[in-house]
Amino acid sequence: MIVGSTKEDVSLEKRVALTPDSAKNIIGLGLKICIEKDYATHIGIKDEEFQKVGVDIKSSSKEILSSCNLLIKVNCPLENEITNLKDKTIIIGMLNPSLNKKKLNEILKKDIKIFSLELLPRITRAQSMDVLSSQSNLAGYRAVIDSIFEYEKAIPMMMTAAGTVPAAKVLVIGAGVAGLQAIATAKRLGAIVSATDVRSASKEQVESLGGKFLSVEQAEDMETSGGYAKEVSKDYKKKQAELMKQALIKNDIVICTALIPGKPAPRILTEELVKLMKPGSIIYDLAAEQGGNSAFSEAGKINFVEGVKIIGVKNLMNRLPLTASSLYSKNLFSFIRNLYSREKKDFNLNLEDEIINKTMIKEN
Ligand code: NAI
Repeated sequence: MIVGSTKEDVSLEKRVALTPDSAKNIIGLGLKICIEKDYATHIGIKDEEFQKVGVDIKSSSKEILSSCNLLIKVNCPLENEITNLKDKTIIIGMLNPSLNKKKLNEILKKDIKIFSLELLPRITRAQSMDVLSSQSNLAGYRAVIDSIFEYEKAIPMMMTAAGTVPAAKVLVIGAGVAGLQAIATAKRLGAIVSATDVRSASKEQVESLGGKFLSVEQAEDMETSGGYAKEVSKDYKKKQAELMKQALIKNDIVICTALIPGKPAPRILTEELVKLMKPGSIIYDLAAEQGGNSAFSEAGKINFVEGVKIIGVKNLMNRLPLTASSLYSKNLFSFIRNLYSREKKDFNLNLEDEIINKTMIKEN
């Protein structure tokens, strides 16, 4: 059985699905691998590094698509790749099914099985495959680094002969995967950190990282049985706005990460609230691509409103593609290990396995 991987459109996506380490592990399962020439040279990985672990390098994507049994990608295959895909191939990637419905339906017509890893159930057995966690964790880290780069003052408290520099105050909205890493990173850099979330369980996690938890008074817990957040009521929104009013006046950097799966990002920072912040403050909105947690957020843009810099993030993983690829390809390896049967020397598409069933895309 051959696992193939072709280049992404590097003008949009710098991550790769396969690194030499994961290639070695996949070959260890008894599979062969072929990739396109100069597959990851743009992020500093030479073809020779792949060859050293036994990967076959092909000069064109066509050669790969016509020979592989399993195609691994970061994003949806490109248009010309779809034409060259052969029947019975399996595709695995982060294929964004809601956005790429038409393209994926076109692929499914070819008797091809497609697995999209954003659909993984958040169960213990799937943790090592959880691409949303591995990538969001990095997003939370990078959000703090980028915000600090844009902020015109120092972050930690410094006592010098010339006077004392106060520590910057960072507020994190949404204490999920990205939010918790943002808290940890801002703390490490010396900021005074506070955070808020609609799930009461996150209080303990925020505090364990040294952050102060800001609770919305007398509010019910908004956690679903699956561990995600529910949409909040009008009354909750009002109370949360009151809490934000107090917090925004004091904070210098706000990192927005609030998310409700499958819904547009909750709008927490209204125009009125944003304008309460001190000039020179930063709002860094990780949810900008889903509509933004703050007014004035636009994906891929920096907007200035009364001296507040509002950064709307787009393709953040392109700012640390090597680390993001390394974690993503480890997630992929774990998924392939669960899918491949060494005894049968074939992929085992057992739909009774929750991981396989939930990630498989059915025509719609
Ligand atoms: P997550 O689901 O782990 O965390 C989101 C948190 O927001 C949850 O703890 C939830 O309880 C909280 N939340 C929901 N509604 C809220 C509200 N009204 N007020 C306060 N908290 C609320 O999500 P994750 O993985 O941490 O992702 C966070 C955001 O970062 C998402 O918008 C995601 O799309 C984005 N992201 C962006 C990337 C990029 O490259 N631009 C990369 C990775 C993540």
